[in-house]
Amino acid sequence: MSSEVSAVEGPPSAGRVLVTGASRGIGRAIAQELLLRGATLAVVGRDADPLLRLSAEAPARVTILVCDLADRAARSEIVPRAVEALGGLDGFVSAAGVVHYQAVPQVEEDALREQLEVNLLAPTMLAQQAAEAMGAGGSIVTITSTLAQRAAPHTLAYAISKAGLEACVRGLALELAPRGIRVNAVCPGVIDTDMIRASRPGSDPKQTEAELEQLRRLHPLGRLGRPMEVAEAALYLLDASFVTGVSLPVDGGLLAG
Ligand SMILES: NC(=O)c1ccc[n+]([C@@H]2O[C@H](COP(=O)([O-])OP(=O)(O)OC[C@H]3O[C@@H](n4cnc5c(N)ncnc54)[C@H](OP(=O)(O)O)[C@@H]3O)[C@@H](O)[C@H]2O)c1
Repeated sequence: MSSEVSAVEGPPSAGRVLVTGASRGIGRAIAQELLLRGATLAVVGRDADPLLRLSAEAPARVTILVCDLADRAARSEIVPRAVEALGGLDGFVSAAGVVHYQAVPQVEEDALREQLEVNLLAPTMLAQQAAEAMGAGGSIVTITSTLAQRAAPHTLAYAISKAGLEACVRGLALELAPRGIRVNAVCPGVIDTDMIRASRPGSDPKQTEAELEQLRRLHPLGRLGRPMEVAEAALYLLDASFVTGVSLPVDGGLLAG
């Protein structure tokens, strides 16, 4: 008897997909690319307006779910509402994330908790619920960070959350494989979004360009990444039928350097 798990019908990227962080940056690029592939989406953010602008691209195929993922009670409603709206779930992309740049002496417990809630606990619990909703066959993709593997100043709490998320991906992949549910991560270097412009300790607005230049130089390819370059990798992993438990660097060579 074959132990092979039957595949889902059609690629998840053209199916029913829940996307968090769809309002801006990387998550928005992923949602836009999924819409181009013909997917039907449930999209999550804290503010309806940017999600409404996204849904204008294909109003009949986008359900908007406004939710603060740091709120445990509110986020527990996300997967049931997505399943009800979409009639099931083939894919889950967890792209929401938050960073508070703080030097070690200034790390605040509230900020540490928020980053753990949004970057680690929310994706873990939503993935658990999403896998239950998928039943047999499906695909989950999260966005980790090279900071999970390589330290940089002022990102201690964020790095802890992303390292936990990488462990989560491997653990979920192992236990969900018998049900044909794959779990993978994209591991970006520095991508040009709002996140990298969030205020840093001692940062002077005039120095922002110098700081960006420093960040560019971290990458052997000599530039920052673009949200669409991460989206392409996320869509590859959503559909890669014999890939599970990996964290795929999209980092301009940062981890190799
Ligand atoms: N940019 C980088 O260099 C980089 C590098 C490595 C990994 N990443 C990861 O990539 C993912 C996307 O980051 P990005 O650069 O696109 O960041 P971004 O432009 O700042 O967007 C962050 C997204 O997360 C959502 N979000 C944040 N806190 C939330 C909360 N409490 N509840 C619900 N949604 C929340 C935001 O929604 P709202 O509109 O509601 O705020 C927004 O859609 C994150 O997981 C990030 O950690 C980014």
